[in-house]
Amino acid sequence: MSYQARFKVWRGDAGGGGLVDYEIAVNDGEVVLDAIHRLQATQCPDLAVRWNCKAGKCGSCSAEVNGRPRLMCMTRMSVFAPEETVTVTPMRAFPVLRDLVTDVSYNYAKAREVASFVPPPELGPGEYRMKQEDVGRLQEFRKCIECFLCQDTCHVVRDHEENKPAFAGPRFLMRVAELDMHPLDAADGAGIDRRRAAREAHGLGYCNITKCCTEVCPEHIKITDNALIPLKERVVDRSYDPLVWLGSKIRRR
Ligand code: SF4
Ligand code: F3S
Ligand code: FES
Repeated sequence: MSYQARFKVWRGDAGGGGLVDYEIAVNDGEVVLDAIHRLQATQCPDLAVRWNCKAGKCGSCSAEVNGRPRLMCMTRMSVFAPEETVTVTPMRAFPVLRDLVTDVSYNYAKAREVASFVPPPELGPGEYRMKQEDVGRLQEFRKCIECFLCQDTCHVVRDHEENKPAFAGPRFLMRVAELDMHPLDAADGAGIDRRRAAREAHGLGYCNITKCCTEVCPEHIKITDNALIPLKERVVDRSYDPLVWLGSKIRRR
């Protein structure tokens, strides 16, 4: 079946813009990105849209469809009634460059602030051994495609530009959790305190566990339950366990 779908697409740039009405032909089995491509091919050759894989794996086509952060290539048109108007807007938490394309460099800056994995000095290549349950736990976080939909949806920065300098966002707090849980990470020996950094440099305390990040993750990573809450528990253990506190004081002398 083919039909004419009604769309509202945000057009504009950093200087301002607004929603523009379009009618776009849609066929069975198509996704929102197909419709946006058809719009570009037939009516608006200057429409800016970012995409790459059209398979839910590159994380490029993030936008908001009817107000919900989504990958356009993984949002089937069949989830909307044919008479429904589908509204497509750029991610709200990041500055607009043009039309549906935003400047996501906040995320790259936050990525650089997380100290890298520190290889264990006593082990050489090929000597790393890990329990399967540790591998499984870390693998879940490695499924991240860096679409930044979780970053876009988190209320801490979505409507609060002023929080951005102090808050890494769910994707990068998850990265800190991944490294802190990594049994072979030797950050402590290199003078890197990941739990202190989570609290002080990456703003873990801003997260009040609303779980909106988990709800929009296209990889179905349990960001809040498996990364953020365990990280909060680990930070609290470190801060309030008197033996751990004493040990850290002695070590620092
Ligand atoms: Fe996207 Fe999920 Fe990675 Fe966040 S954690 S950037 S929502 S894949
Ligand atoms: Fe934000 Fe996710 Fe925490 S949406 S408040 S990072 S649980
Ligand atoms: Fe790659 Fe949508 S185009 S995730």
